[in-house]
Amino acid sequence: MPFRSDRSVRTARSGTVPHDAVHHPVFARYYARFSAGAERRMGLGALRDRMLAGLSGRVIEIGAGNGLNFAHYPSAVSEVVAIEPERYLRQLAVEAALRSEVPVDVAPGAAEALPVKSEAFDAAVLSLVLCSVRDVPRALGELQRVLRPGGQVRFLEHGRGGGRVMTFTQRAMDRTVWPALSGGCHVSREPVAALRAAGFTLGPYRRLLVPEHGPPLPSSYCALGTAWRPVQ
Ligand SMILES: C[S@@+](CC[C@H](N)C(=O)[O-])C[C@H]1O[C@@H](n2cnc3c(N)ncnc32)[C@H](O)[C@@H]1O
Repeated sequence: MPFRSDRSVRTARSGTVPHDAVHHPVFARYYARFSAGAERRMGLGALRDRMLAGLSGRVIEIGAGNGLNFAHYPSAVSEVVAIEPERYLRQLAVEAALRSEVPVDVAPGAAEALPVKSEAFDAAVLSLVLCSVRDVPRALGELQRVLRPGGQVRFLEHGRGGGRVMTFTQRAMDRTVWPALSGGCHVSREPVAALRAAGFTLGPYRRLLVPEHGPPLPSSYCALGTAWRPVQ
């Protein structure tokens, strides 16, 4: 997955042609097809409702993909800035933003260098994205920067889990073909530990399997919850 610096800070609506920070056109088309069905089949739509419940104010969503969260934002959210580096998915996100009931502005950019001002957001959303960013500590440092003190992160992330055979399998996948086949995804990361290490205070969160029933997949081990940027 080539990674280039994204110097454009203007939104997709403004018509700027951005440098693409992430380029995985085949995976993007696969994800756009697969993810729509997974909303019901894997229970992801209901989990998005739970992840976003009670949010209000200005929200930044990192790696918004094709915009599947947009329909789940509560009406108390005044604005969503949705960052998506991949061109094909970003175009689908722009289309989803036009259907959204809350105002959503879709912008190019990467988690590691967010094209927004510091302390500008009440909340940030991470869903199924920390597995794919190139530099997790740097991305979470950026999240600290753009959230106001006391701002919250809502997350639904998959990572390491299961018994020894499963964690061995996850590590083996990450070291071999999986990231190249899946748009840079890794299945053995530890998103909750990464949030803590980045200085966030973990709020309530729970571990769950997605899908909930049936044999677990290497990507099934999820955490859903809240973390906070400390006030001091
Ligand atoms: C599995 S998809 C999840 C999309 C969406 N968040 C969702 O919940 O359906 C992972 C997303 O992360 C994006 N991504 C990959 N690297 C990124 C980075 N460095 N910064 C921001 N987003 C990134 C991908 O382009 C893709 O849209």
